[in-house]
Amino acid sequence: MAGLRLQGIEKSYGAVHAVHGIDLDIAEGEFAVLVGPSGCGKSTLLRCIAGLEEVDAGTITIGGEVVNDMRPRDRNLAMVFQNYALYPYMNVRENIAFGLKARRVPKAEIEVRVRRAADMLGIGTLLDRLPRQLSGGQRQRVAIGRAIVRDARLFLFDEPLSNLDAQLRDEMRTEIKRLHQELGKTMVYVTHDQIEAMTLADRIVLLREGVIEQEGAPLDLFERPVSKFVARFLGSPPINFIPARLDRDGSGLAVRCGEGTVFALPPERAGALESHAGRDVILGVRPEHITGSSHAGGRREHLVSHQVTIDLVQPTGTRLYGAFALAGAEVLAELQAHDVERPGETIEVLFDMQRAILIDPVTERVL
Ligand SMILES: Nc1ncnc2c1ncn2[C@@H]1O[C@H](COP(=O)(O)OP(=O)(O)OP(=O)(O)O)[C@@H](O)[C@H]1O
Ligand SMILES: [Mg+2]
Repeated sequence: MAGLRLQGIEKSYGAVHAVHGIDLDIAEGEFAVLVGPSGCGKSTLLRCIAGLEEVDAGTITIGGEVVNDMRPRDRNLAMVFQNYALYPYMNVRENIAFGLKARRVPKAEIEVRVRRAADMLGIGTLLDRLPRQLSGGQRQRVAIGRAIVRDARLFLFDEPLSNLDAQLRDEMRTEIKRLHQELGKTMVYVTHDQIEAMTLADRIVLLREGVIEQEGAPLDLFERPVSKFVARFLGSPPINFIPARLDRDGSGLAVRCGEGTVFALPPERAGALESHAGRDVILGVRPEHITGSSHAGGRREHLVSHQVTIDLVQPTGTRLYGAFALAGAEVLAELQAHDVERPGETIEVLFDMQRAILIDPVTERVL
């Protein structure tokens, strides 16, 4: 069983505490994505797993075996990096086969495995070409091919798609997801791209300054972030934050944003928030939870209506993002194509207060 367990992992470079007390269990066959802003320790953690860095403290267990004292090549992992250095004077076949030759796999076996990997990646017709005769995306596939021909027990990817243009990146993302389904191997994938994380992961591990801020299924983090940091990191365009106050409102609670704007909270949410009544909060609402009033089908009971003047219009084709000011914050609403024709129009929007989050402005934790 080739799951991965990290216990109490610490790694410093001089005074820089790059990774700090990481505990993580990744099940066999799981696709885990390490995500977080630049410098948060993603690559360091991956390099520790691979054995390219020695940990200062903690235990790394792969498939039930503690590997701390094992050399990288004995850990039997396959890695794909952002700068996938292919051998320039070897053709695609030789590049893919390189690791197998080094391990003295019989020639006939190598041929079969290279063929299978190349076909899986759609580069079966390119085996005789040199790297310089390939596009960026094709080169990336060769690098992935080199990793998958080895019967590695764990796959590690460090931003493998960041050198590709946006369209190729989308395509390769789909390929990698399919590859994971076909191979069924445990994969740990590093990215700072939240879309990549959301679409690929069985489990997202969001790092912040060397510490796990939150981990879980992508939708868990998206819908139930523990902090302002997590809420802001996931979602595009990002969640809106509006300074507000939590007030009593008859028998329930309401969120007051600036002068005279009061959004009642659904009664079932009031219990948990009761102790925060009378305090400042930050109201967090995703653009897709502020919609035009004419398109709100279905259940409307959690939707609270508000008049706003749209000051910026960003059409995307089917949808349209409209910006407006509320309590000193610039807020983005996801509208339909013809809800607003031009800036300056006043329209009614509906806030979904069931999905809104409230954040403590001091601790930045979600209440
Ligand atoms: N070899 C090194 N020597 C000194 N400091 C290092 C070294 N490698 C990384 N660091 C520092 O450790 C911290 C974590 O770096 P790391 O490369 O793990 O970040 P990352 O999350 O992969 O970022 P990015 O998204 O930019 O790749 C950073 O502050 C970085 O400057
Ligand atoms: Mg990195």
